[in-house]
Amino acid sequence: MTTKEKLDLTEYRPFPDEQGRNNRQTQWEIPALVRAMGLPTGARILEVGCGRGIALPVLDRLCSPRRLVGLDIDEELLVEAAANLREHGTKAELHRGDVRRIPFGDEAFDVIVDFGTLYHIARPQAALSEIARVLASGGTFVYETKASQFLSHPVRSRGRRLPAPAAYDLRRRRWAVLWASRTKASLASRPNASQSL
Ligand SMILES: C[S@@+](CC[C@H](N)C(=O)[O-])C[C@H]1O[C@@H](n2cnc3c(N)ncnc32)[C@H](O)[C@@H]1O
Repeated sequence: MTTKEKLDLTEYRPFPDEQGRNNRQTQWEIPALVRAMGLPTGARILEVGCGRGIALPVLDRLCSPRRLVGLDIDEELLVEAAANLREHGTKAELHRGDVRRIPFGDEAFDVIVDFGTLYHIARPQAALSEIARVLASGGTFVYETKASQFLSHPVRSRGRRLPAPAAYDLRRRRWAVLWASRTKASLASRPNASQSL
């Protein structure tokens, strides 16, 4: 039985590999996202649900990250991602893991990017809570808006939404039709900060 067959389809149903979408993402979408969301250079970047690793070489080229990591639950996609990184000469780490139990310590990343994964998994609240945990204070979480999901997957995205990010102390930062970003509040500005010190 392959890893794909072992994936629980009530948890997540895989998407096909579409060359047209991959090209659009690498040539247009990611450069526009990096500009619109003002992603910094030299940061520690994590992409959750990195799949075939299509976005990682582009993020590497445009953001020159200090650390670049792709996380995905599907081992077979990570094999394809490794080949894609080799082809582009991109230095990035690939980890197999569940975004609802991210295998990194607290505040390990300055930027976390999600190209739609959270819309399509069961229990996205657990994923958002983990993203908030591994994001550094002042760090940025970038995600696709509902409009973006609707344009890419008009049928599958119907009725799907993200949990309210404000509940995880992720505060609105930027919005640009297809993408939005949230900042993790610094400890000092969080309610009850003094109690948690
Ligand atoms: C919408 S696709 C995005 C793939 C890629 N980032 C892209 O833009 O082409 C979602 C990805 O999330 C992965 N995934 C699904 N459930 C996951 C989970 N619980 N934890 C981590 N990754 C997951 C899938 O294997 C898939 O690669």
